[in-house]
Amino acid sequence: MKDKPIEFNNVTKKYGNKKILDNVTFALDWQSCTWLAGSNGSGKSTVIKHILGLVKPTTGSVLVTGLDPYYCSSARRYIGFILDKDGVDPLLSTLDNLVFYTKLYIGRKLHGEDYNLVLNRVGLFEYKNALVKTLSAGMKKRLEIAKLLICKPRIIICDEPFSFLDKQGAEILVDVLKEYVAAGACAFVSTHEINCPNDVFDQKIEILHGCLVSRKMNKRCLR
Ligand SMILES: Nc1ncnc2c1ncn2[C@@H]1O[C@H](COP(=O)(O)OP(=O)(O)OP(=O)(O)O)[C@@H](O)[C@H]1O
Ligand SMILES: [Mg+2]
Repeated sequence: MKDKPIEFNNVTKKYGNKKILDNVTFALDWQSCTWLAGSNGSGKSTVIKHILGLVKPTTGSVLVTGLDPYYCSSARRYIGFILDKDGVDPLLSTLDNLVFYTKLYIGRKLHGEDYNLVLNRVGLFEYKNALVKTLSAGMKKRLEIAKLLICKPRIIICDEPFSFLDKQGAEILVDVLKEYVAAGACAFVSTHEINCPNDVFDQKIEILHGCLVSRKMNKRCLR
C-alpha cells in the first residue's frame, strides 16, 4: 500500500483549556513495530484514541492509510486492536465472542477448526464454551489476542496489552506481533511496563506530558 499506515501531523488535543497532546508529529511504516512509552497520564491512550477515530484532534491531522479515521470508517477496517478495557462480551461464551467478532470484522463465520486452532494457540481451548464473565483477567486478554489471530489485521493497535498477561501470555502476544510484522503489518503498542518483552520493537517513541520527547530507532537503542 502506497500510504503510510499511521501519520500524526502537528496534532494538538485539548480538553477544555487543558492541553493533552502538544504538537505531536510522527509517521509509522509498514512492517514495523513501535513501542509508545510514557508514564501514567502522559497521553498514550489519547494517541491511540485518535488512531481509532474515537476522538478528533483540536488542531493538526491524523491519517490512517491516508484517510481520516474520525470521519472515514473505511480507515478503520485495517485495524485490529487490544484496548486497556475489556473488548469482549461477558454474557457470550469464548467461542461465541470470536464468532461475533468475525462476523462483524470479516462479514462471515469461519470453519469450526479455525476457531479451535486459535483457541489452542492462546491456551483457551478448554474454555471454549465458558461464559466470558467466568474467565480471569489474563484469560480475557488472551481472548483479545485470539481476536487478532482470527481477523489478521494489517494495522495492530495495542494499549497496555501486557497487563494481566503472565509470561507465557506475553510471549504468545509477542510471537503474534512478530509474525504479523514479518508479513508486512504495522504494530503500535503503548505500554509503561518496563519489563515487557522488548525485542519485538524496532523503534520506541516516548511522550511526556503530551509532547513527543524522543524517538529511538533499532533494537540496540531500546535497552
Ligand atoms: N475525556 C477526557 N477529558 C478530560 N481529560 C482527559 C480525558 N481523557 C484523558 N484525559 C486526560 O488526558 C491525560 C492523558 O490521559 P491518557 O489516558 O492519554 O494517559 P496515558 O498515558 O494513557 O496514561 P496511563 O498510563 O495511565 O494509561 C490525563 O491527564 C487525563 O486526565
Ligand atoms: Mg492509557
